[in-house]
Amino acid sequence: MSNILCIGAGYVGGPTMAVIAKNCPHHRVTVVDINEAKIAAWNSDDLPIYEPGLLDIVHAARGRNLFFSNEIDRNIAEADIIFVSVNTPTKHFGQGAGKAADLQYWEKTARQILENSSSSKIVVEKSTLPVRTAEAMERILNSNNRGLHFDVISNPEFLAEGTAIRDMENPDRVLIGGRETESCHIADPATAEIYANWVPRERILTTNLWSSELSKLVANAFLAQRISSINAISALCERTEADVSEVARAIGMDSRIGPKFLRASVGFGGSCFRKDILNLVYLCEYYNLPEVARYWEQVVTMNEYQEKRFVSNMISAMFNSVAGKRVALLGAAFKANTGDTRESPALEVVRELLDEHALVVLSDPYALENARLDLGALADRVIFEPDPYAAANSAHAIAIMTEWADYAALDYKRIFASMVKPAFVFDGRNILDHRALYEIGFNVYAIGKPSLNHFINNGNC
Ligand SMILES: NC(=O)c1ccc[n+]([C@@H]2O[C@H](COP(=O)([O-])OP(=O)(O)OC[C@H]3O[C@@H](n4cnc5c(N)ncnc54)[C@H](O)[C@@H]3O)[C@@H](O)[C@H]2O)c1
Repeated sequence: MSNILCIGAGYVGGPTMAVIAKNCPHHRVTVVDINEAKIAAWNSDDLPIYEPGLLDIVHAARGRNLFFSNEIDRNIAEADIIFVSVNTPTKHFGQGAGKAADLQYWEKTARQILENSSSSKIVVEKSTLPVRTAEAMERILNSNNRGLHFDVISNPEFLAEGTAIRDMENPDRVLIGGRETESCHIADPATAEIYANWVPRERILTTNLWSSELSKLVANAFLAQRISSINAISALCERTEADVSEVARAIGMDSRIGPKFLRASVGFGGSCFRKDILNLVYLCEYYNLPEVARYWEQVVTMNEYQEKRFVSNMISAMFNSVAGKRVALLGAAFKANTGDTRESPALEVVRELLDEHALVVLSDPYALENARLDLGALADRVIFEPDPYAAANSAHAIAIMTEWADYAALDYKRIFASMVKPAFVFDGRNILDHRALYEIGFNVYAIGKPSLNHFINNGNC
């Protein structure tokens, strides 16, 4: 039996450790965090994050071999393997502000591990970090004169929120990067051994440390690039008679391109894509590769353009003004099946609509509390309404911001009847039946498709 510790009980630490505990009943898994309220929530039935299937797994393992605790120092002392899954936000000050990763949480954690260890340990980098961070951490940890040795392993997490449990249970691959030293040949198998309890060996890849760190940044950059690419085409489709869904289908059937991540939308969000690409951009600048930096930066620029374009389209459709008009935004989470609102396009749309003096109503089944926190002072100017029908009542427009399945199944005749006319619907996720909405009487604007409106005879403009 090993004592596995995870520092950081967030969207990654909580679910990954729950899945490890479930699949490794012979190991004791403890998750610690500085946030006491979060740990209390992990120890309750009201978990701090919404993730399908998570509560069942926590129920099965909690108290058996899965524990959530605030006692960081004691648990460090007792651990054999320590996963570090603390947040690594973009730095907002000093050199690299706005692009580089803020590594202060990681460095504090490394020092805390050092202070509280009386035996050698394996430290696993689960957070997404810039290339060569593991090396720096190894230097800090091995700066002791107590004869302790630390191996730092990179094991980036590829789970996606909303499907975290499925992704962890059946990963495309598990990546483990280590130094090619003698001691690391001991450390690597130990980390791989944990996953081998449920992941086929051929899906457990081992690389050198820096390839592993870089692969995580590059994976997110490639995924976001596909979204920005199809969103760029959606702008062109709206100016022509093309339909972006048809274009995506046609190109996605080319096996060299593939069908995934080709859905045009109001834009990507989440805590990772923007920060990881900017991190990559900063690395390229640091290594004096300005052309490479600009290339990747454009993925983020295109996403910002898409969010702004969505609001511009709303304003121009609604007779060039939304001031004083009630606009119901359905969805606050950055994607379906999560309550996470970090970098959510919905919140950017809220900010822009407030700038235009619209009366904004925000609805979501799980994310309203996070949205309120993320909006800060602006939250006082927003109406939060979990019921989509109540949100749409008396609205001039509704806009789909998150692809929650429930939003495709709403009674749009009932919604239309309760709205101010002419009634507008803006589908920021292309999940609705646009022709049916048009026939109910809505003026319909989707992403990358000709609009369907009742202002001119043929229903198109
Ligand atoms: N969210 C995702 O989908 C996802 C996917 C893959 C990788 N990642 C990466 O994983 C890392 C964690 O992301 P997250 O979404 O879980 O973040 P998060 O903010 O949800 O969780 C981080 C947790 O770490 C805790 N923490 C910070 N400093 C601490 C310290 N010194 N001691 C103990 N606890 C501390 C915070 O209180 C917080 O609860 C990031 O580097 C992120 O880029 C995230």
